[in-house]
Amino acid sequence: MAKRATTPPARGSWAGKMGFIMAAAGSAVGLGNLWKFPWMAYKNGGYGEAEPYGAGAFVLIYLLSVVVVGLPVMIAEIVIGRRSGKDPVGAFEALRPGSLWKWVGALGVLTGFLLLSYYGVVAGWTAFFLLKSVTGSLTVTPDAGKEIFAQFTASAPMQVAWMAIFVLLTAAVVIGGISKGIERVTKILMPGLLIMVFWLFFMVMGRENASSAYAYMFYPDFSHVTASLVLDAMGQAFFSLSLGMGAVITYGSYLGKKDRIVTCAVSVTFLDTLVALVASLVIFGVLFHLNLQTPGDGQGNLFTAIPAIFSQLEGGTTLVIVFFLLVTFAALTSTVSLLEVVVSYFIDERGWSRKAAVVKVSAAVFLLGIPSAFSFNVLGDTKVFGMTFFALFDYLCANWSLPIGGLLITIFAGWILTSKETEDEINTHRPIHAFWKFCVRYIAPIVVLLVLVGIIAGVGGSE
Ligand code: PFF
Repeated sequence: MAKRATTPPARGSWAGKMGFIMAAAGSAVGLGNLWKFPWMAYKNGGYGEAEPYGAGAFVLIYLLSVVVVGLPVMIAEIVIGRRSGKDPVGAFEALRPGSLWKWVGALGVLTGFLLLSYYGVVAGWTAFFLLKSVTGSLTVTPDAGKEIFAQFTASAPMQVAWMAIFVLLTAAVVIGGISKGIERVTKILMPGLLIMVFWLFFMVMGRENASSAYAYMFYPDFSHVTASLVLDAMGQAFFSLSLGMGAVITYGSYLGKKDRIVTCAVSVTFLDTLVALVASLVIFGVLFHLNLQTPGDGQGNLFTAIPAIFSQLEGGTTLVIVFFLLVTFAALTSTVSLLEVVVSYFIDERGWSRKAAVVKVSAAVFLLGIPSAFSFNVLGDTKVFGMTFFALFDYLCANWSLPIGGLLITIFAGWILTSKETEDEINTHRPIHAFWKFCVRYIAPIVVLLVLVGIIAGVGGSE
């Protein structure tokens, strides 16, 4: 595969298009797919009510949002990244020098840093639960599962230690650079993840009553559509595709000039959506098979209810191990992308070496992660604006930073960049470019604005 010619070799690049697709899909597929999407579908699907109406309407609106908002914004981010060949701050500065646009990049880098600090805590949980599943201690009743989780999160040293382990793991991948670190690892983990999710799918869906999950997920009943459902679906599409903070700008900056942006964006979007849907079918399939009314305590907690549910199946011990391997892979490829955003800033803008950037940024992430790790124990009662540090950071990133960043990115791509610039990069059939331009100019900003208004009005969004 051709190496990019315009970037100095020191900056690194993907060895090929597949490297970008696997890494970007790795960023997109994360806890958002495996935990939040099934929970959102469940929350908006009415499962367990006297007359369950299903999550079909939510899923359909989600898919629509992915196509008319997610995909165009992803293309926009790749365009910005590849055209500039820079980190998010440098990208806006290179494309519109001396303007205020570089602050959009700065917001992205800051968001990546903050997001990683608390996402790393939950990622640490996945690694701990993987270990627990291997030792067989997760094959338990729902109550015992809750007890394991409660004890684990109540221990401040355990929280800090597992967060540290995960940050170290992430740093070990990112320090290897683009093709030798991130590309090499994601090219193994992502196919592994796909094999595992499909393996679980085949293990579960043939069981009695499990196939009811199809109707639950795909039969749309529009009589139950509410503003909150629509906002949840649109917000989820955004978070799940890793949009709004420059993760895709950063990965796009390492993309070869010959690689087709639309093909890359469609592949990443497709893989992300596929994993969300298949993982949900697995989870709902198990619920229908066991005829359970609710996946544990409301949110269907990934760490309590799901292992307990799997344990009740024949071959459950193995299924739980595969499940947590899947979640850990997904979390790792997402944390890697978050760290790379911040690291690329220090390499490109501050002239740091990759090694120095990874070591210093990881140390800072670890320190910033401590208040989040303590939010479940020693700082559990310390509230800022009524939220623990963990909840506050999540609220700031998911509800504010990503949508605001996303809105500004669509405005930049749709209204500031010229058609000549974007056509040059996207390099596809004119009608496709025209459709993209229309989405990024009108539909995407309006939709993201609606999400923000909804959040301000307190409808939908993360809680
Ligand atoms: N897309 C990830 C998930 O679904 O878990 C979360 C995420 C990763 C959001 C990286 C933003 C980002 F830049």
